[in-house]
Amino acid sequence: MASASLLKSSPVIDKSDFVKGQTSLRFGPASSVRCIPNVSGSSLVVKSSYADELVKTAKTIASPGRGILAMDESNATCGKRLASIGLENTEANRQAYRTLLVTVPGLGEHISGAILFEETLYQSTVDGRKIVDVLIEQNIVPGIKVDKGLVPLTGSNNESWCQGLDGLASRSAAYYQQGARFAKWRTVVSIPNGPSALAMKEAAWGLARYAAISQDNGLVPIVEPEILLDGEHGIERTFEVAQKVWAEVFFYMAENNVMFEGILLKPSMVTPGAECKDKATPQQVADYTLKLLHRRIPPAVPGIMFLSGGQSEVEATLNLNAMNQGPNPWHVSFSYARALQNTCLKTWGGRPENVKAAQEALLIRAKANSLAQLGKYTGEGESEEAKKGMFVKGYVY
Ligand code: 13P
Repeated sequence: MASASLLKSSPVIDKSDFVKGQTSLRFGPASSVRCIPNVSGSSLVVKSSYADELVKTAKTIASPGRGILAMDESNATCGKRLASIGLENTEANRQAYRTLLVTVPGLGEHISGAILFEETLYQSTVDGRKIVDVLIEQNIVPGIKVDKGLVPLTGSNNESWCQGLDGLASRSAAYYQQGARFAKWRTVVSIPNGPSALAMKEAAWGLARYAAISQDNGLVPIVEPEILLDGEHGIERTFEVAQKVWAEVFFYMAENNVMFEGILLKPSMVTPGAECKDKATPQQVADYTLKLLHRRIPPAVPGIMFLSGGQSEVEATLNLNAMNQGPNPWHVSFSYARALQNTCLKTWGGRPENVKAAQEALLIRAKANSLAQLGKYTGEGESEEAKKGMFVKGYVY
């Protein structure tokens, strides 16, 4: 493993139990084998020394009553968030906001993983502690957004593709050394623009290559083909597109020898388009989404961590709760950005005197979603702010 030599000097390893328990695996005997058919039809056997660690990391993240805090907004997207509360998009402001998020007392009870943007992975809190160390102390696994964003897909119907495969192996090895244990790659599929067969194939192939490269470097890949909320279509149409997308994604992941026990998925819930006049109840969203998952997702996958996609904070929690009213073969949970952070950001407003109240607001959402993961959320006592939708047309991350 090219990356193994880098790990010996990892500053993070000694500080974390979940990391500590796994160090020997990297140098011990291979714990799983993957068979790759060669051109003559016989098999080459590829050993993956990270296999056990990947399974363990994925299970830690997919642990009961916990989910992921997505705080990996690119600098451009973070700038839009800061602008909404009248703050300039400076490194110091981004650092202040991210410090507020990761230092919420008791956050790790409800949050098992935090996805960071590259700047944050290498950043310290305002009082000089490494953000990665703070997360590990909170019992939260640090993760990293590794895609390089969306660009137009030539030859398609105004659709896009996701960049970032070039150099991904060496970047992933460095992220691991810095303390990241999982990764995220978000690509999108647009229903109003097709989706064309080309765009779906491209999205699925990119995700599969990324997933294989991440696993080869010790990072659990979060596989996220976001089906955008944009459009006037009904829930049936979303269901139909989601079935195609996930069929392609699993086909190419199998072709790329991705180990399904060592991945996490980040799907969109199956909902009507944001501009559809027929709204769906949490029960309908849960029924369609669980039907999709049962048809397309093997039970070997440990966790399904939904994105919120522009739903209101309360809507995203109610929908998750509805999906957890019975047993599921996978851990069904959350990996929200907007639906965890919105009230928190507004409460903060960039003022030091509001930090405590903003942290409480984040904790309220984290607890609510934790309850929803366990199927025990009632929706009582939610603020009006938390009920506001956050859909933005053509959303980029
Ligand atoms: P939202 O929950 O705001 O849709 O964020 C999704 C995402 O991909 C963040 O990692």
